[in-house]
Amino acid sequence: MMRPFLSFTLAALLASSAALAAESEALPPPDLEWSFEGPLGLYDRDAMRRGLKIYREVCASCHSIGLLRYRDLRALGYTESEVKEIAGQYEVPAGPDPAGNTVDASGNLLTRPATPADAFVAPFANANAAKAANNGKVPPDLSLIAKSRISGPDYLVALLTGYGEPPAGTELAPGASYNLYFPGHQIAMPPPLSPGQVQYEDGPEATVAQMSTDVSHFLMWAAEPKLEERKNLGLKVMGYLAVLFVLMIAVKRRVWRDVH
Ligand code: HEC
Repeated sequence: MMRPFLSFTLAALLASSAALAAESEALPPPDLEWSFEGPLGLYDRDAMRRGLKIYREVCASCHSIGLLRYRDLRALGYTESEVKEIAGQYEVPAGPDPAGNTVDASGNLLTRPATPADAFVAPFANANAAKAANNGKVPPDLSLIAKSRISGPDYLVALLTGYGEPPAGTELAPGASYNLYFPGHQIAMPPPLSPGQVQYEDGPEATVAQMSTDVSHFLMWAAEPKLEERKNLGLKVMGYLAVLFVLMIAVKRRVWRDVH
């Protein structure tokens, strides 16, 4: 007799907590398909190169990606001289000149063009500068974001495409935007992408969904550049074990041949 009552209470509890969650918590991100999923999945070089473009032209004005070096871009299929050219578009502190100066006559830090060995240049000198420019919130470094908390590439796409009008009666904090997928729904990042924001040289149309998917693909690679090698090694190990298995069966047959 207890059972129906219990399950009814449980169902009621679940329903009410789901309703509460819907009001205050972020929606779970839709499950998307990615080329790098599954045991044989690989990164899509074209998507990553488009994603790099989005990062450089849009996200990089607020977010650093400090664990990447320009030379890492060789993995996206760029040649050594292309990487050099990309790096050379950024300036890094030059250090003391032969006379020992680190600043020029007007007090500005001496700089030099970045080289492939340099880390990706950050948009702000420090966290306080980043905070001051972004409504008091520091835009997080994106190096590992695709592998952090519950996030993953599905979350990144959901976040970037999840902006909208707040429901009637919702008060937004100053400078905040409404986002369906961000915990608490109020995010200090204004919608970063709008249709046609970048000029894709070839391939798909630069819709918000497309750009979000591409930049998330790129960020997934940045967070896990060794994914392909790891899968490759896994396959080799499986192949090795399969051969070993066949050999062991043969040995076993031979050893036991005379006994049977
Ligand atoms: C105008 C500055 C600005 C731009 C441009 C920008 N962001 Fe952000 N971003 C922020 C700020 C500020 C936060 C912190 C938001 C908060 O905590 O409320 C943030 C947070 C994030 C987060 C973390 C969300 C979380 O769950 O904590 C991700 C991921 C992100 N941005 C990705 C991107 C990507 C990808 C791009 C480029 C398409 C981009 N951002 C462009 C300012 C920016």
